[in-house]
Amino acid sequence: MKTVLVTGGLGFIGSNFIRLLLNDFSDYHIINLDAVTYAGNPENLKEFTADSRYLFAHGDIGDRELVDKLLQTEKPDFIVNFAAESHVDRSITGPAAFIETNIVGTFTMLEAFRNYCGENDSKCRFLQVSTDEVYGSLGAEGYFLETTPYSPNSPYAASKASADHLVRAYHHTYKLDTLITNCSNNYGPLQFPEKLIPLMISNALEGLALPVYGDGKNVRDWLYVEDHCRALELVMNQAQSGVTYNIGGRNELENIELVKLLCNSLDRRLGLLPDGRARTELIKFVGDRKGHDQRYAIDADKIRKDLGWEPQTNLAQGMEMTIDWYLDNQEWLNQVRDGSYQKYYQEMYG
Ligand code: NAD
Ligand code: TYD
Repeated sequence: MKTVLVTGGLGFIGSNFIRLLLNDFSDYHIINLDAVTYAGNPENLKEFTADSRYLFAHGDIGDRELVDKLLQTEKPDFIVNFAAESHVDRSITGPAAFIETNIVGTFTMLEAFRNYCGENDSKCRFLQVSTDEVYGSLGAEGYFLETTPYSPNSPYAASKASADHLVRAYHHTYKLDTLITNCSNNYGPLQFPEKLIPLMISNALEGLALPVYGDGKNVRDWLYVEDHCRALELVMNQAQSGVTYNIGGRNELENIELVKLLCNSLDRRLGLLPDGRARTELIKFVGDRKGHDQRYAIDADKIRKDLGWEPQTNLAQGMEMTIDWYLDNQEWLNQVRDGSYQKYYQEMYG
């Protein structure tokens, strides 16, 4: 058995990752350290509560004592650090939590990892799950490569960039076995409805306005979450120490095109809105995000060549599977759109 300490495993990508390891492989034992913030939902993994291969630890990655204790008692072979504040808009209105978790929290994990490796002569690897947003914004042409200089624009991106630099430095200075992945925008089941795709699905189901920032022409490169998780499983097992991999789907789309695609799919499945309007009529252009990055696009050739990773899900399939999931899990959606979500929504969208 391989023991993996996953942090942030009750969130969107972390819970999909744990589900993949437990359902598609037979040799993983998981410890999930999660602070259960607004984005962490125990419902996301409830089917594993009684599974002997899964242990949940409620706590903060910034709690050194707790992290030390988990490392000493569980002796993981891998640490996969997903835990983060992850929403750009929240980083614009309240950056402090991003500095605390994404930078100081990652630093604490690295210090505990350094101590654990030193004391145990362990073969443990540390995989930092990062984002393409560290590279900044592209114009109409070009792609982010692993060699593209970091140029983060939002407090979120800057906090993730700082964490990446620390991870890199711990490899270089202390010769620790660290890895970094920089992935493009994920979508799929269990994504919190503050992010574009689940927000638009959730609002379109309720007949609410669909707030598109600016002119809607910003471009994101979308990757189905399971493809990202498969890439992470490959990287943690097979990558050379100290390596960075970009992960992306070569699925670029303007936001407005994506929102129209979601609206049309929902109209096809559910019929028009009760008042006879198509859901595209709910689209409302609103003020732009501060410092809004124009375009992200990943060149994922390195992981393709080195590890043979390819995305399995194209955008059309992935969108249909995602819409299916939200339609089948409206209870989940209602539960997460609780009082604090309503407050966030009012402050954000008025
Ligand atoms: P998410 O916001 O859905 O989940 C974050 C999880 O971390 C939650 O379960 C939360 O409770 C937990 N958490 C937050 N602060 C914590 C702390 N101090 N200690 C312990 N747990 C804490 O995020 P996500 O979308 O699943 O993203 C996971 C990781 O992947 C993040 O590091 C993010 O930067 C990165 N990433 C995300 C995307 C994307 O499109 N969502 C793309 C590339 C990289
Ligand atoms: P988001 O899902 O927040 O991811 P990121 O900012 O990390 O790329 O946003 C994706 C794109 O959608 C981004 O260009 C901002 C835009 N967007 C809207 O137009 N309206 C919204 O309500 C949200 C949340 C995002």
